[in-house]
Amino acid sequence: MRRRCWMLAFAATAAAAMAVEPKVGDIVELEKPTTDGKASVEKVLSTRRSCREWAETPPSLAELGQLAWAGQGVTEPKKGLRAAPSAAESYYLELYAVTPNAAYRYVPAKHAFAATAAGEARAQLAAAAPRMKPLAVAPVVFVFTATFERGKPGWGDVNIRYATIEVGAVMENITLQAEALGMGAVCVGTFKDEDVKKAVGAGEKEQPILMLCVGRRK
Ligand SMILES: Cc1cc2nc3c(=O)[nH]c(=O)nc-3n(C[C@H](O)[C@H](O)[C@H](O)COP(=O)(O)O)c2cc1C
Repeated sequence: MRRRCWMLAFAATAAAAMAVEPKVGDIVELEKPTTDGKASVEKVLSTRRSCREWAETPPSLAELGQLAWAGQGVTEPKKGLRAAPSAAESYYLELYAVTPNAAYRYVPAKHAFAATAAGEARAQLAAAAPRMKPLAVAPVVFVFTATFERGKPGWGDVNIRYATIEVGAVMENITLQAEALGMGAVCVGTFKDEDVKKAVGAGEKEQPILMLCVGRRK
């Protein structure tokens, strides 16, 4: 199947590329992330608060790319090192961005999203955790999954600890980046694993660990 590729140059607006329902396998290329925002780390640390209601205007594609980059972006291309630390560069995680009509996997090496599910992805996620109300209304939900086998041979169960720590680091990077962009986020840690995997089109070995709802503050 021929892959469609939405380059920003050809999309009428950045938001338009995400508004179109993709086909699984479509690649959405992202604008180069900024490494020079205006808000200081101290400022966003002091204002961060979990946010459970959002403005209707969703984040733009560029903003979604910036959030994904803050979590898992490549910041040292020679070795492929990323914005968040990882035990012995195991990089256990996949990061999915779920919008009302699709799920995308962030591809760090390309700084792009690859569509992994189409249709009512966010509604499916919400059904995986019916009591977690923010899921049903969040403009975007980031889903963190871990593949524990990526650790060094012989590490055994320590992979679970390391991968979970990595999720915490990536979640906080995205949360602070969101705050710097005038957005707010909240974690959702209770859900049915298999339903989440299905909603985002995750691979068999991936274990969902956490979700993070994000949107523009009201
Ligand atoms: C691992 C984890 C799971 C969480 N799960 C939920 C959740 O399912 N629903 C929710 O509304 N908040 C959830 N939260 C957010 C906490 O309730 C929140 O961080 C706490 O009340 C402190 O408030 P603050 O984040 O505004 O400082 C979670 C936070 C963490 C770290």
